[in-house]
Amino acid sequence: MKTQQYILFCFLTFYFIGVSFAQLAKCAEPGCPANGVWGEWKNDTKSICNMTCGGCGTSFQTRECLSTPVCNCTGNSHRYIGCNFGACEYPTQKTCCPPYLPMVINGVYMCGPVPKTIESTACCPQTDLFSPWTGWQLSGNMWSRTRKCIAESIGCPCTAAQTQAQTQPPCSQPGDATEYCKNIPVGRGVKHQDLVLNNGEDSADLVMFGENQDGNTYCQLLTDEYSAENRFEGALLIMREASGVCTTDTVFECVNGTDGDTKRRNATFTCNGTSGNWIYDYTGKEVIATVIGSWV
Ligand SMILES: *[C@@H]1O[C@H](CO)[C@@H](O)[C@H](O)[C@H]1NC(C)=O
Ligand SMILES: *[C@@H]1O[C@H](CO)[C@@H](O)[C@H](O)[C@H]1NC(C)=O
Ligand SMILES: *[C@@H]1O[C@H](CO)[C@@H](O)[C@H](O)[C@H]1NC(C)=O
Ligand SMILES: *[C@@H]1O[C@H](CO)[C@@H](O)[C@H](O)[C@H]1NC(C)=O
Ligand SMILES: *[C@@H]1O[C@H](CO)[C@@H](O)[C@H](O)[C@H]1NC(C)=O
Ligand SMILES: *[C@@H]1O[C@H](CO)[C@@H](O)[C@H](O)[C@H]1NC(C)=O
Repeated sequence: MKTQQYILFCFLTFYFIGVSFAQLAKCAEPGCPANGVWGEWKNDTKSICNMTCGGCGTSFQTRECLSTPVCNCTGNSHRYIGCNFGACEYPTQKTCCPPYLPMVINGVYMCGPVPKTIESTACCPQTDLFSPWTGWQLSGNMWSRTRKCIAESIGCPCTAAQTQAQTQPPCSQPGDATEYCKNIPVGRGVKHQDLVLNNGEDSADLVMFGENQDGNTYCQLLTDEYSAENRFEGALLIMREASGVCTTDTVFECVNGTDGDTKRRNATFTCNGTSGNWIYDYTGKEVIATVIGSWV
């Protein structure tokens, strides 16, 4: 075999002219770097140099776009490069694969001149480039979320924080559903009220009052669709779900409400740290607006 003629002794030197990451300059343009942010070229698992010396072998490399989809990359994600430029030792003579010639580089017989590998024109973004935040997660009694500094692995650290932490639940207060849900058939909105948040926890309460609060009567006899009265007297919660649908729930029967004369009971919610919406515990549905109502 032809290659075996070359292989008596080989310098298994692989020349990889890498970018010195500490020396990356700031990009000329603000925003995304012109070609996006590429990771380092990496040897593929299958990328064994197909010659052991002489300089004519090729090796396969791949790289990953680090900044997609924030900044899309342009350019190839794989390439072949020359490899194993060590001179082959023929019994008495150094040999190289044409067009390379044996020469001493840094005290070692190499096949040269070794071609320069053209590197991507990586540069540091002028301002911090981050991936989107992860969802909030509750751990212990702290909510936290993180984001990735996109160009950090090519030597461009970010200055702004990569993590945020707080004790307050990250879900936003549901809005007022009075207007949006005014056409639901069974109830009418009476009073919008904020949830009572519990710091360091994922739960919140909507304190549902029964009769005689603020001059409002939230407890009324439930009527069927022909206005015939049921025996059930309930406190109604009207909700605009994240899907856009309006739903209702009878949180408690007024005569059985707790807390003395005010007949009070809580509707409970759990924060979804990914969507930022409160989930009504009883239905498991995400809710973006609420109103305490009464039957029509
Ligand atoms: C890539 O593979 C070659 C062998 O083909 C090896 O000599 C070289 O060190 C590898 N380069 C990197 C950056 O891992
Ligand atoms: C090495 O592999 C590359 C890509 O498959 C091919 O083009 C080249 O001819 C091969 N070289 C040798 C010496 O086998
Ligand atoms: C990146 O590419 C994807 C898929 O081609 C596209 O949907 C997206 O809008 C692009 N993003 C930017 C910032 O150009
Ligand atoms: C209802 O919620 C309020 C506010 O979070 C809380 O102080 C109260 O203990 C709750 N009542 C019940 C019966 O859970
Ligand atoms: C309300 O209380 C009455 C009397 O204690 C009981 O029979 C009834 O089942 C209760 N209703 C509900 C919905 O808890
Ligand atoms: C929380 O929000 C995410 C993102 O919108 C959603 O995929 C997930 O199903 C939600 N979890 C629950 C329990 O609703």
